[in-house]
Amino acid sequence: MTGVKYTMINSKLPKIWYGGDYNPDQWDKSFWDEDIRMFKLAGIDVATLNVFAWAKNQPDEETYRFDWLDEMMDKLHAAGIGVCLATSTAAVPAWMARKYPDVLQVDFHGNKRKFGGRHNFCPNSPTYRTYAPRMAEKLAERYRDHPALLIWHINNEYGGSGNCYCDNCEAAFREWLKKRYGTIEEVNRAWNTAFWGHTFYDWEDIVLPSGRSEEWYGANGRTETNFQGISLDYCRFQSDSILECYLLEYEAVKKHTPDIPVTTNLMGAFKKLDYHKWAKHMDVVSWDNYPRFDTPYSYTAMMHDLMRGLKEGQPFMLMEQTPSQQNWQPYNSLKRPGVMRLWSYQAVARGADTVMFFQLRRSIGACEKYHGAVIEHVGHEHTRVFRECAQLGAELGKLGDALLDSRNRSRVAILFDWENWWAIEMSSGPTIDLKYVNEVYRFYDALYRAGIPADVVSVEANLSGYDLVIAPVLYMVKPGIADKLERFVEAGGAFITTYFSGIVDQNDLVKIGGYPGELRKLLGIWAEEIDALLPSQRNKIILQDPSITGKTEYSCGMLCDLIHSEGAEVKAVYGEDFYRGMPALTVNRFGSGEAWYVATHAEEAFLQDWLPKLCASRGIQPLLPALPAGIEATLRTKDGTDYLFVLNHNEHPVEVNLGGVGGTDLLTGQAISGARAVLPGRDLWIVKVER
Ligand code: GLA
Ligand code: ZN
Repeated sequence: MTGVKYTMINSKLPKIWYGGDYNPDQWDKSFWDEDIRMFKLAGIDVATLNVFAWAKNQPDEETYRFDWLDEMMDKLHAAGIGVCLATSTAAVPAWMARKYPDVLQVDFHGNKRKFGGRHNFCPNSPTYRTYAPRMAEKLAERYRDHPALLIWHINNEYGGSGNCYCDNCEAAFREWLKKRYGTIEEVNRAWNTAFWGHTFYDWEDIVLPSGRSEEWYGANGRTETNFQGISLDYCRFQSDSILECYLLEYEAVKKHTPDIPVTTNLMGAFKKLDYHKWAKHMDVVSWDNYPRFDTPYSYTAMMHDLMRGLKEGQPFMLMEQTPSQQNWQPYNSLKRPGVMRLWSYQAVARGADTVMFFQLRRSIGACEKYHGAVIEHVGHEHTRVFRECAQLGAELGKLGDALLDSRNRSRVAILFDWENWWAIEMSSGPTIDLKYVNEVYRFYDALYRAGIPADVVSVEANLSGYDLVIAPVLYMVKPGIADKLERFVEAGGAFITTYFSGIVDQNDLVKIGGYPGELRKLLGIWAEEIDALLPSQRNKIILQDPSITGKTEYSCGMLCDLIHSEGAEVKAVYGEDFYRGMPALTVNRFGSGEAWYVATHAEEAFLQDWLPKLCASRGIQPLLPALPAGIEATLRTKDGTDYLFVLNHNEHPVEVNLGGVGGTDLLTGQAISGARAVLPGRDLWIVKVER
């Protein structure tokens, strides 16, 4: 796929893929035919095999055995089911841990792990880096021409354990630093080690940051550090080390199957890995969606959009979700009737071209035995969950290739950056309440409620197609970013950023000369001080020009930047405290565009009132007018045809105003149009829009 234009995941299966993780290696063969019979009943056409079978495939150093996999691949193919083939390298076999202890990790406190758990490998272990790609290569050699093979699934949920702190990691970290900084003097500069006399004289002086050196577990579940520079680099280094493991396997399978796409399953806003860096090396992004019973729908929506944004809008795979319940959450409620189907379509509505589950058959022992599955412990198809799965399977069959490779288009981009996330949450001060993903989500949610689609993209993304770019808490401004934002605004774009932005460079070194540093010119303000409020303290923002939100005052808290205008127009001021009357919201005309600064963490109502109005002023309209609560709308477009998804997350029916839009619902074939169409509870339309 490298170099080949993406059209669909694999043309062998030109429909929305339906299936999921299947572990026949954990079952007696007598179950296999019966499983496949039920898969067919459920409309399943893809099975993810071999996720945790390393121990079975390679029982000792010399022996490789794939007889079970040969047989299963053939059986599935005979039944018309394709295979998403995993490389089985996420959990190392016991013999390897016994013989080569370098595969085992060392934890934060310096304890060497014993065999057990999963993701139980050190990413810098020479043994792991030999045997994992070797396994991938054996599989690729063996199945390169197998007709069932649709895609490679490298490893599983990389990063699923804590960072490793072993001697191999420490040595590799020094090498990584040499590449990044060249000289020890440059490291000292980048980390500001003159502070507390931490100056390094030699590379060997550098030890990795852990519970034995610079870090400790602090309040709010955060890892605290004395030195952000080294800790930030260790985050980068661990993400890169694990990425190197992925790449070794990627190259191993590509050697034999250059045309088979490759993915690895990601986890949404997963902090440890810089997915923007990763996605460049993936043919297709895939991810595992496990909302809790109380996760807001808009949060799940944002996760899908974040995953879609990793490859700038290319459709992604929903690799895993549970058909019914979870086992690892504190309260593993059942998905209510209709919810699994609705959430599956929510993924499709936001760019997924597959709907896949963990798992197809529920296991009988160990920690996932109470995790939902298409085939439950009772073992037959006469269950609510199975019926719902089969209904969805039939529908996806009927949809055929209609939606494949259609694109979601947005005029609004929200910037998301992993390094910024790491830096914000390891910064000592100004408040432990600042959580990056939350801050991004508040903006996303306000747009979601208004039915205004937004892409969630990297700070490196091409912004030229957007009219509005929002960068919540752009604390770290990496080289080139300020210029790029200036060019965007100059050319007519609207830009929004917030409190605690423009403070540091990529090493968490403060940009001197006044906050918001490199963004100061663009925003036309100077932030002199930053006040942190207690959870119980509030301030107010008073609108100078109420027309921009429709109200005159809102409450605010957490952080209040004390700013001065340097040319920006003041749109709101603080209502209380000694900085009462100082600007709280400003806009700076810059070139032919405008740059907004939101100086404080305002109550949600502020964003909900303001953003839709700001969008309207820029000609950005909601997909549907006056979206009722719990109704989600998205648009996917393909070959000039628009598909309008309207989802009802409520249990009850809701009247939806489709504005001027009308067309045929792909699911029922019925015509849908008008101002008062009624959408049943937990149901949806996919309206093929007719003009
Ligand atoms: C993850 C893993 C699966 C399984 C599920 C359970 O997504 O990839 O192997 O453990 O969680 O929810
Ligand atoms: Zn290690």
